[in-house]
Amino acid sequence: MMEKEEAKRHGRRLVLVVCPFQGHINPMLQLATILYSKGFSITVLHPEFNSPNHSNHPNFSFVSIPGGLSNVSASPGDIGATISAINRSCEAPFQRCLEQILEAEDPHDRVAAVIYDGFMHFAQRVANHLKLTGISMRTIAAATLFAFAVSRHPDGHGYIPFLDSLSQLDQEPELEALKLKDIIESAARNPTFLELRAIMTETTKNASAIIVNTIHFLEQKILTKVQQKFGIPIFPVGPFHKLAPSSSSSLLEEDTNCISWLDKQALESVIYVSFGSMTSMDENELLEIALGLASSEQPFLWVVRPGSVRGSEWVEELLPEGFWKRVEEGKGCIVKWAPQKEVLAHGAVGGFWSHCGWNSTLESVWEGVPMLCRPIFGDQPLNVRYVCDVWKIGLEMEGVLERGKIEKGIRRLMIDSEGLEIRQRAKGLKEKANFCLSEDGSSYNALNELVQHILSS
Ligand code: UDX
Repeated sequence: MMEKEEAKRHGRRLVLVVCPFQGHINPMLQLATILYSKGFSITVLHPEFNSPNHSNHPNFSFVSIPGGLSNVSASPGDIGATISAINRSCEAPFQRCLEQILEAEDPHDRVAAVIYDGFMHFAQRVANHLKLTGISMRTIAAATLFAFAVSRHPDGHGYIPFLDSLSQLDQEPELEALKLKDIIESAARNPTFLELRAIMTETTKNASAIIVNTIHFLEQKILTKVQQKFGIPIFPVGPFHKLAPSSSSSLLEEDTNCISWLDKQALESVIYVSFGSMTSMDENELLEIALGLASSEQPFLWVVRPGSVRGSEWVEELLPEGFWKRVEEGKGCIVKWAPQKEVLAHGAVGGFWSHCGWNSTLESVWEGVPMLCRPIFGDQPLNVRYVCDVWKIGLEMEGVLERGKIEKGIRRLMIDSEGLEIRQRAKGLKEKANFCLSEDGSSYNALNELVQHILSS
């Protein structure tokens, strides 16, 4: 109750618009918690499918955007088309929801801004129409935001007019290490994504600011570039998950038994394996991973999401007896969904084999856990360039997945002298990162500036 009173002290409400996928729901609800702790009231608007669990967040009001799509595929192949369909179906009902909120609003609790996931670009158009402040929130690295903004124009002629030529990217060593040019060019093969990027970039120009889940020192140069290109304030207030403790927003139930299993393992001995919330693999890849994990002789904690093996709901029958024997003997643990942040913070975890989604990357950086990287789609290849080539806290596993290669990759990271150096660097980066939240740290300051920006808008 006291907290609710406190939340009203600005007399300002924020409307947050969620993109309904796990890697987007988590950061948006974390941001909601952060802004609530700064004295704003919070209303979360979300599509009907993949609805966040309202009861986990009793301090927020939730409104489900009615109509539109009832079920949506999140497979990497059609994610661009899916996001475009969500935008088409949500715009009109979202506007009606927002009009109702405004009609019923308490004069002492007025809507100060609409903060939307950058993928939900319709929210900015509606905010413009209703003369509300729109703020774009990005769950991706600032470098990905930059790559979006300099993508080839969907008509195939030239680039979205932020950059005259891709050759400019070669002149900056830090950008060269990110291989931005390759990344931008490979995206040019997907016209749906190009169109989405162009619309998002155009819409963001109408926003009053951009919030990015990143840390200033990790992306200093590129943040300056993004700021110059868009000409609006950028607030790097990450990592969201550490800025304010937030209830779980997992769509799947977290299996906490793996924490008691971790408690029994030696310090920094476990390789944690998870490929996020959207990627999938075929049965053969599953088998090769299982055999590679077993022959690495390292204890492992492996997340295999239901439905993530194409054509199979769950994997018992797909894995050989010898593998299950290792699990029964306590040498490995396999779960459908893990409390990942708790796992990465556990002292027994010594490495993270990941697809390098941006949330997973930031969570691993924060805990100083070195990474084995296996990017699959979207922003993941760019995140891997940061991990392996810029921060040098991980190794990449390229090419076809095969047990011998997996065993070698795990041993390189977990045991070899090369891995020890990488671990030291990961710990150094963790120390540097942890400073950003202390008083006068970059994220601490950026958050206070964001609050001032909202209050003065
Ligand atoms: C995708 C993109 O790759 C990512 O960069 C973008 O920002 C969001 O969409 P996703 O595949 O969901 O992301 O991966 P990631 O960004 O790493 O997010 C996954 C989230 O689920 C993380 O917050 C992670 O902590 C959580 N998680 C994952 C769990 O809580 N338990 C698990 O077992 C696995």
